[in-house]
Parts: sequence; structure tokens; C-alpha cells
Amino acid sequence: MVILSSAPSSTSTALAEAREQLRADLQTCRQATLALVADLTPTEYAQQAHPDFSPVGWHLGHIAFTESLWILEKLQGNACPHPHYRQLFAADGLPKAERQNLPDWPTIQAFLAEIRDRTLTYLDTAPLQDQLRLWRWLLQHECQHAETMALVLAQHRWPQEQSVMPAWPQPAVMQGKVEAVLIPAGTVTLGSEAIDALDNERPSHQVHLGAYGLDRTPVTVGAYRQFITAGGYQKSNYWTAQGWDWVQSQKITQPLYWRESLAWDAHPVCGVSWYEADAYARFVGKRLPTEAEWEKAAHFSSNGAVALAAGNYSNPSGHTTPVGSYGGDRTQGCDDLFGNVWEWTDSWFAGYDGFEAYPYRGYSQIYFDGAHRVLRGGSWATQGLALRSSFRNWYHPQVRQMFAGFRCAQSV
Ligand code: AVJ
Ligand code: FE
Repeated sequence: MVILSSAPSSTSTALAEAREQLRADLQTCRQATLALVADLTPTEYAQQAHPDFSPVGWHLGHIAFTESLWILEKLQGNACPHPHYRQLFAADGLPKAERQNLPDWPTIQAFLAEIRDRTLTYLDTAPLQDQLRLWRWLLQHECQHAETMALVLAQHRWPQEQSVMPAWPQPAVMQGKVEAVLIPAGTVTLGSEAIDALDNERPSHQVHLGAYGLDRTPVTVGAYRQFITAGGYQKSNYWTAQGWDWVQSQKITQPLYWRESLAWDAHPVCGVSWYEADAYARFVGKRLPTEAEWEKAAHFSSNGAVALAAGNYSNPSGHTTPVGSYGGDRTQGCDDLFGNVWEWTDSWFAGYDGFEAYPYRGYSQIYFDGAHRVLRGGSWATQGLALRSSFRNWYHPQVRQMFAGFRCAQSV
């Protein structure tokens, strides 16, 4: 600890603050994870709800195993106290369909608690000046799995929960607002090198974009209904070739989390694939934004601040809210950029120039394959701890179990 004791006191104060912030954030995240599974049924715990996703119980074990691997084993130098969990709970251990034969929930609950106990004890004295980035990654890893658990639970529970009526009135702030926001031409710094920034957000870099228009809000259920009633799902001209193949082979006629009731018309449409987002944009004579356009709009909408603005996020047992419910006194920019629904962009997921994989190639780099589209902005189920204007999510274009919608852009 020579470095610390000889460093200016402001440095050790900053480190002490980082340590306490980390402890608090780990607890916030864990409370949210456990709240999600408070009334879990045995079926929901152990059964795969959809072939693309692991059972909820697997995610719980994987959260604890990942914490033991990166914090206890790699940083502290102690192997996982349960080495037989490696094959079951490592990301590269078993195919998703073979993850249903799980230890029971009390056993995994104890596993989570045991690892967390050891982790927090280690945190008291861990040399954070060299480790903070990995700890912040681990924290966000759990946040992300909690959101995946929320969407897996939605596969088990939808549409029974469809009868729940929204308690939110149509917000007055929507009245009289223009539909699209003009983002002026200019240079913007995208990405991030903050301690929280994941490998795929780095390095930050400057991009020049010409002027463009971006919808003030995500596309609503009410707006999307017009696409359905106009026969959008039956007319090939709105779709890309792959999108049209997908609609026909999967017999898709509406979004996954479609709401028939008009009470949801002011909410963002939720549960669409990239193909549906892209087709709707063509239907209204617009296009999807690139991820750079989305991120620049986030800076523009907060007068250059890159921080997280108010929104419908960190609410993993909730649902969407009417678009424009947050940030209503804003004088410029877009609403609902953060939270409510993830927003599909036109961009393929790829590394920025100078990308360096962290903490392992399989985290981001193996998905730079020209087959995943980027989503931005988070959903109601995303923890605020893992959300910012530079955050990038990615999925194959046909996946629609995420709480994902979109907004449209226009060239000007
Ligand atoms: C960024 C949500 C696509 O769940 O596959 C979790 C996050 N990576 N553990 C995923 C992740 C490794 C990732 N997504
Ligand atoms: Fe993981």
C-alpha cells in the first residue's frame, strides 16, 4: 500500500468513497435481483420458458458463480468454494437446453449469500485502485442478468398479466409538442472512458453527424396499431427480405407484448423484433436511427450532460409508462431516451476503433459478427446502475422477448 500512503489524501478519500459506493451499489442491485424472484414458482425457477433463454434459476446460479470467478478467484486468489458448479453455471459450460437440472432454490439462495458474504469481506481491504473497473463490471453483470430474468419471467407470465390496467393518466406534457426533434449538424463525443464503461463503449471518440430528425418519443401502441390495421404484416413492401421471411415463417401478426386495450395507446410499443421496427419505420416514410444518432440525441437532450436523466427504469417488476411521462419541462430534445423500452437502432454491433476486450473476449467481442443489432436506452426493467447514454445492448434482429421498442429518424 505504498502508493496509497504516499498519495495525496484526496486520492485515498476518493478510494474510500469508491469503496462505499460499490458496497451500496452491490446491495441495491442484489435487493432488486432478489425482489424479482420473491414469488417464484418451481416451474419458473427451473424450466426454460423459451429456447433462446436459460431458466431463471440458472441466471441466479450464474450470478453467484461469476462473482466467485472474477472477484474471489481472479482478484483474491481463492478458487470457487463449489468447483462442481463451474460446468453448470459458467457462461460456456452447457447449452441453454441443458441448464434445467438445477440445485433447488434454497441451495442457490445459500450459494448467492455465501459468495456475497466473502466478496463483501474481501471488499473491506481489496486494493481497489487496481481493481475498481472489474468490480464495477461485476456489479453491472448482475444488473444485466436481473433484466434477463425479468424478461424470462414475462415469457412464463404473459399474457395473464395483460389484464393489469395502467395507473398512469395520459401526461399533459405531450399536448402541443412537435413530433420530431431536429438535431443540428456537428461533432459529438461518443462512447465513454468512465470507470463504469464496458469494453464495447471504449474508447470514446469524436463523430461528425449531419443534421437529422429524431422522433421525440418512442413509437406508441396507438401509432403502431395503424400499421397492423393497414395490413403491415401482410404486405411485403415494408419489409427487408429477411424480415419478410421471418414474418411468414413465424406467422407473426403483432408485437409479442401486444396490448389490445386502447388504455395502453400512449405507451411505447414493446416486444418487437428489429424487423418489425424497421418495417414500421418504412411504413411511415422514416428510418431507424443509427446508434450514433441516438447517442448524440441523448447528449443534445440533456444539454451535453452524459449522465442518466429521469425515466422509467430500475423497476424490474413494473411495466411501461405513457411516453413523455418524464422530463416534461424540457425545452429541447427527446423524451424517454432512458428507460421505458430499449430502442432498436439501425447499427450492427461492432467494436469502436481501438477496441480492447475486457474482461474476456466472450463478453462483447464474439458478438461483433455482423449478426447483432444495437439497442439503446434501457427499459423499465433495467437497473439505473447499468444505464447511461453510451450503454450498448445487442441482440439478433429476430429476437423480441426483450422489453424493446424503437423511435424513428429522418434525414433532413
Ligand atoms: C448485453 C444483455 C446481451 O445477456 O447476453 C451477461 C449481457 N453478458 N453476461 C447477455 C451479459 C454476459 C448480455 N447482453
Ligand atoms: Fe453472464
